[in-house]
Amino acid sequence: MPDAPDTTHDPDYQRLQWLKAELTHHAHRYYVLDAPEIPDAQYDAWFQELQVLESRHPEWVTPDSPSLRVGGPPLDGFAAVRHRVPMLSIRTETDTEASGAWAFDTRVRKELELSADAPAVGYVAEPKFDGLAINLRYEQGILVQATTRGDGETGEDVTQNIRTIGQIPLRLDPRHAAVPPILEVRGEVYMRRDDFERLNERQRQRIAAGAKGEKTFVNPRNAAAGAVRQLDPKVAASRPLSFYAYGWGEVSEIDGAGPAWSSHFEALECLKGWGLPVSEWVSRCEGAQALVDYHHRLGQMRDQLPFDIDGVVYKVDRLDWQKRLGFVTREPRWAVAHKYPAQEQLTTVLDIDVQVGRTGKLTPVAKLAPVFVGGVTVTNATLHNEDEVLRKDVRIGDTVIVRRAGDVIPEVVAVVHSEPGLKPNAPQGGLFDPPQRGAVFRMPAHCPVCGSAVVRAVDEADHRCSGGLFCAAQRKQAILHFAQRRAMDIEGLGDKLVDQLVDSQVIHSLPDLYRLGLSSLAGLDRMADKSASNLLDALNRSRQTTLPRFLFALGIRHVGEATAKDLARHFGQMDAIMDADVEALLQVRDVGPVVADSIHTFFQQPHNREVVEQLRACGVHWEEGSGSATAPQPLLGKTLVLTGTLPRWSRDQAREHIEAAGGKVSGSVSKKTDYVVAGSEAGSKLDKALALGVTVIDETGLRELLSLPAD
Ligand code: IVH
Repeated sequence: MPDAPDTTHDPDYQRLQWLKAELTHHAHRYYVLDAPEIPDAQYDAWFQELQVLESRHPEWVTPDSPSLRVGGPPLDGFAAVRHRVPMLSIRTETDTEASGAWAFDTRVRKELELSADAPAVGYVAEPKFDGLAINLRYEQGILVQATTRGDGETGEDVTQNIRTIGQIPLRLDPRHAAVPPILEVRGEVYMRRDDFERLNERQRQRIAAGAKGEKTFVNPRNAAAGAVRQLDPKVAASRPLSFYAYGWGEVSEIDGAGPAWSSHFEALECLKGWGLPVSEWVSRCEGAQALVDYHHRLGQMRDQLPFDIDGVVYKVDRLDWQKRLGFVTREPRWAVAHKYPAQEQLTTVLDIDVQVGRTGKLTPVAKLAPVFVGGVTVTNATLHNEDEVLRKDVRIGDTVIVRRAGDVIPEVVAVVHSEPGLKPNAPQGGLFDPPQRGAVFRMPAHCPVCGSAVVRAVDEADHRCSGGLFCAAQRKQAILHFAQRRAMDIEGLGDKLVDQLVDSQVIHSLPDLYRLGLSSLAGLDRMADKSASNLLDALNRSRQTTLPRFLFALGIRHVGEATAKDLARHFGQMDAIMDADVEALLQVRDVGPVVADSIHTFFQQPHNREVVEQLRACGVHWEEGSGSATAPQPLLGKTLVLTGTLPRWSRDQAREHIEAAGGKVSGSVSKKTDYVVAGSEAGSKLDKALALGVTVIDETGLRELLSLPAD
């Protein structure tokens, strides 16, 4: 022990002990609780002071010193470590439907010989984190070894790298409960999505700057696995890893008795008390229906979680029951993983097409061998732009990872060059010969739709067709954009109809829509009288609109719904916007030079002004105001989230009121959310708000914030 009699009174030694205790406490506040109590600069200063003291007295360095978090010298390899208690895997329920949870509960009840009328079994449901399993060995409360799972019997000693993870305590906090002399904590090391994006951005910059041996990562899981198995702990320290504890291995007895855990949930609470991060999404569930609800709830939230999950895990809560249920081969009978549809799959690139969008942007699109991913069959995936295709070097014939998360359009993540054991998806039936690897991709010099020259502006990643509305593809997209629900809301004007109207030359410009008559529609293929008159009704209804909708509908580059609303609020009148110079446009909230320039350029084109005039002449109208100079903005700078059904306002109405008062409406709840407005049947967003302590109000509360009468 370092504290021999002659050191205890050494002021340097006492200072060092104090620094270690403070740094340990503040690392927990910062990394685990996300609630720092001191400025980062103070932490850094103390950290440096500790490093200086330790460099003067290397004999005072102990395994729990926060200074070890920066990573030691590089290693030659990792030592093999035999697990004292094997690290098991979990049986996976492949049925991603609710029946997966019912089947597990049925098996558990049967094994426990519970009668049909016995009460519901208590479970703990947890996210199934998509990282890698790690065993943390604490002796006398100090982290002495961290090992990977390996084959479950033997893993690798990755202590140096794991020590660099700020969320993992180097010394357990015994204040809440005595720490057993030997305690192995098990959990998942993973990388948060935002950390992953930042890391890849940093890697891209390094590669661009000519750094050798650097690469970007395919997904957070691979990035985390790579970091944990880094031979240079300093590199590992620079990779942002996180950790969640979900179990334990060897646990010694304290004074003859083990920790008095009788349930899994209680054990997790105890781990939390010792300073280990336990996920806020862990939930106690009574019976199968509660598991189904949990699976559903987390599934809805999956894309908004800060980290990747590939399913959830259910565990029988009572530890005596876990013991009774035991194991089959390497899998416990008391736990099961209930998956979600995979968001990434392998498939083959059959071709690379180029599509032309509303603003003339050319997008390379990979045509894929059909693959079931993210719950749908995908045959196309975006490749974004030429630089992306070249960076990923995607070519015809390649095996690629496609990803489809939530409602996001499917994208090609990376080419897989040779990953043993991975087989690309082959179309059903028969042998499948992937095409030969094609040439390096290049954007065409001419628009594939109208033949106009393709141009790429300096400093821009996108190629564009220079044909403007001469290009049928751009015309079609412009009409679809104009007609969409959040713009002019012309019901029934969809892809197929727009194709027909443009291809048969019935419509050349937006105002032509309002000149349609029954006779011109009747000439189209498969157009029944009923649908023609419905469309004319819808067009007629759309004539009465609002200024923000109309502005958004025009499809000005960089003018989305939010900017359209800001513009309308600021200027109040269409003519004022059309005549505004860049200076005036820059006065609008959230409008920067690029957006201001785009709006100004748009209205400088006589053709575009003409379109606005003709639309007005066709009877398109809205109410004009006097601009925002006088309008009160009680919600300025506030972020609100809407959930459930409000008694009197629709979602869109509530949003319009909030935005008119200067507030923002966000789709997901975080600590930054100021209010969650909950109506009836509010779901996971309400749960999350309550978990995070965000203020929850109802419609009446919202009306109060807006200074509107309650009725
Ligand atoms: S418990 C005896 N809980 O899934 C049960 N595992 O096949 C041991 N995993 O590689 C594991 N999240 O890394 C458990 N909440 C969770 C988990 C989880 C992810 C991983 C674990 C292991 C695999 C088990």
